[in-house]
Amino acid sequence: MTHPLTPSQLQQLHQWFGSERFSTGNSARDLHISDISPHACEPPSGVVWPETTEEVSNLLTWTYREGIPVTPWGAGTSTEGNPLPVAGGLVVDMTRMNRVLDIRSEDLQVDVQPGVFRRALNKQLADTGLFFPVDPGADATIGGMIANNASGVKTVKYGATKDYVMRMTIVLPGGETIKTGSRAHKSSSGYDLGKLFIGSEGTLGIVTEATLSLSGVPDNQLAAVVTFGDLESASEAVAMIIGTGLEPAALELLTEGLIELMNRETDLALAVAPSLFCEFHGISRTSLEETAVVAREICEDCGSRSFRYGIDEQDRRNLWRARHEAWETINRAHPGKHTLIVDAAVPISRYPEMAVFADRKVRELGVSGYVFGHAGDGNLHVVMAGDPSDPEEWSQLEAVNHAVVEKAIRLEGTCTGEHGVGIGKRKFMAMEHGASLGLMKRIKDLIDPKGLMNPGKIFP
Ligand code: LAC
Ligand code: ZN
Repeated sequence: MTHPLTPSQLQQLHQWFGSERFSTGNSARDLHISDISPHACEPPSGVVWPETTEEVSNLLTWTYREGIPVTPWGAGTSTEGNPLPVAGGLVVDMTRMNRVLDIRSEDLQVDVQPGVFRRALNKQLADTGLFFPVDPGADATIGGMIANNASGVKTVKYGATKDYVMRMTIVLPGGETIKTGSRAHKSSSGYDLGKLFIGSEGTLGIVTEATLSLSGVPDNQLAAVVTFGDLESASEAVAMIIGTGLEPAALELLTEGLIELMNRETDLALAVAPSLFCEFHGISRTSLEETAVVAREICEDCGSRSFRYGIDEQDRRNLWRARHEAWETINRAHPGKHTLIVDAAVPISRYPEMAVFADRKVRELGVSGYVFGHAGDGNLHVVMAGDPSDPEEWSQLEAVNHAVVEKAIRLEGTCTGEHGVGIGKRKFMAMEHGASLGLMKRIKDLIDPKGLMNPGKIFP
C-alpha cells in the first residue's frame, strides 16, 4: 500500500469523523477502486465522508501538510478511471453532501451540494416545471458532472454541464476556500475561474457547493427513429438536420451491432440498420409535427429507408432507456470482458468521415466493437469488449482507439467529447494540445504544488 496512514494520522481522522464517516475497512475501500473503466488503481488507505465545506477545508489543510494524496469521489460512474486513486492515500467520498439547498424557481436556479445525484435533483424539481437537463445516461452526482464537464444525449439542444454552473464554492488543495461566479446570468468580470475548475476532474480542488441554472420542462416531445441503407448516409443527415435549424433535443447515431443487442433485450423491434434516434421539444404538438415533416424530407434526401415518428409516450421512454443502457447492454452481451470506450468528437461536417472510419477500423481489426454516438454534437463512441489480460486481443482494441483518436484530432476535434481524460486519455493530451498542455501543467503546479489532488490524472 502506498501512502499508508500513520497511527497518529489514523487517530486524527477517527477523532474528526468517527468510525461512521472514516473507514479503513476493506468493504469501504473496495467500493472506491473501480468505475466502469478497465483501469487499475492503487487502493486507498481509507475513505472519508465529509458533510460540510468547513470539514473539507480542514481536511485538505491537514492532508496537504501531511503529504497525503486525496482523490475525490462522486458516484463512480466514470469511464476513464477519473476518480480512481492511483497513489493510495485518502478517497474523499462526497455523497453525504447530498442536499438541495435552495430552489429559486423565479430565477431558474438551484443551489446544491455536490453529492446530489442528478436524478434525485430532477425529482426534487418535479413540481417547479424546471429541470437540470444535462443527461450523461448514468446517474452521476452533480459534483462528478462538474468535475468531468459531463454531457450526453440532450447536449445538442441543452448544452453541457459547463453551461449550467453559475457559481461554485471550491476548496483548494491546501484547504483555502474560494467562490467563483455569481447569480447573474452574464458577466465580463475578470478571468473565468469557474470554467477552469469545470472539467478539471478534481485535480485542482473539491467543489463543495454549486449554483446551477435550470431549463423549463418541455410541454411537448416527439421522438423519431430513422433508418438508412448505410452509415455514411445516416451520418450525412445529421449535419443537414442541424444546419436547417431544427434544433433537435437529441440526435443519436446507432449502428447495426448495437441495434441487434437492443432488440435482444427489449420489445422495440427496431430495424437492424444504421439509424438515427431523434427527439424534438416544442411548445405545441402542431409545431413538432411540422418539424418532423421537415426532418423526414431531409432524411429522405439523404437516402433514408424509413422514418417512424409519432411514437407513443411509453415507446419513447423505452427507446431512450435502451439508448441510455447502451454500455450496460454491450457489457451484458460480453460477460467476463471489459470495455474500452472511445469518445472522440469532431466538427459535424466531418462526422460522416469519422463514423465511417471508426466502423471500418473495427471491422478491419476484427474487434467486438459498437459504433454509436451523440451525432448532433459530433461526438462518436466506439465501445469495444475484450480482455485486458490477453495482450494480443487488448492491443487490437487499443489500436482502434489510437486510430480513431488520431483521426479525430486530424479532423480538428478532440480525444474526449464528454468522458474526460482520467487515466485512459492521458496519452493523447500532448497530441491534442501541444504547447498549451505545458500551460495546463503550470496551472496545476500553481494550485497544487505538491501534486496531491487526484494525482495521476489528465497529465501524461
Ligand atoms: C453513452 C456513454 C458511453 O453515450 O457516454 O452511452
Ligand atoms: Zn456518450
